[in-house]
Amino acid sequence: MIQVALCPSEIRRISATDLTDTTAVVFDVLRATSSIITGLDSGVDSIIPVRTLEEARTLKEKNPSLLLAGERGGLPPKGFDFGNSPEEFQKAKGRTVVLTTTNGTAAIESVKSAQSVLIGALLNIDALANYLFTHRPTNLLLVCSGTGEEFSLEDAIAAGALVARLSGDDGLSDSAMITRSLYEQVGDDFYEWLRHTKNGISLRKIGKDADIRWCAQFSVVDIAGQLIAGRIVPSAQ
Ligand code: MLT
Repeated sequence: MIQVALCPSEIRRISATDLTDTTAVVFDVLRATSSIITGLDSGVDSIIPVRTLEEARTLKEKNPSLLLAGERGGLPPKGFDFGNSPEEFQKAKGRTVVLTTTNGTAAIESVKSAQSVLIGALLNIDALANYLFTHRPTNLLLVCSGTGEEFSLEDAIAAGALVARLSGDDGLSDSAMITRSLYEQVGDDFYEWLRHTKNGISLRKIGKDADIRWCAQFSVVDIAGQLIAGRIVPSAQ
């Protein structure tokens, strides 16, 4: 069965259920999961997702070699090494990055009890599909991190792209069918769609149009990130 959690309240509901037979794929296309995938592709050693600024700062106090990254309101939190732009993660080769963002890392944290947690973006749809063809999970949950408490179009498009790669009509929840239909309607100019989303508009207001363009690239990275013992690393295929 393929299910899709379309917004934060749905993620909270599902995270309270038994996920031990479920593989979760978390999408936060603008920008957390796109930055994670870009970082792993650029040789970042691992990424530790945390929910709060305090958790991030405490980890750094214990281990000063860690880099702190993330955002609140789209901007880097005070004292952090960098923000939540994919290009910033490209400069962290060989380092371990602690990441906290408004929606993306919270969504990852919410499903950490799943049998397996993968990191999804438009950037790595084919890599995710290949991983899932190989591992054939019994239950697949696609997690759309959303924007604040709301549904976000960019995450639903990415989830739909993955559903389209994986399935016929059997074993799809209504939410999986709607995301696939959405993806099929959107065409291939993802940037044009992403720039008009709530998150896209906010990012353009803070001068981050280049991030939207980057995150709108389709299947250009052959890595599926995986959460293992609290750290995101490239998955073994
Ligand atoms: C989030 O996790 O809410 C986003 O990644 C926000 C952002 O674009 O920085």
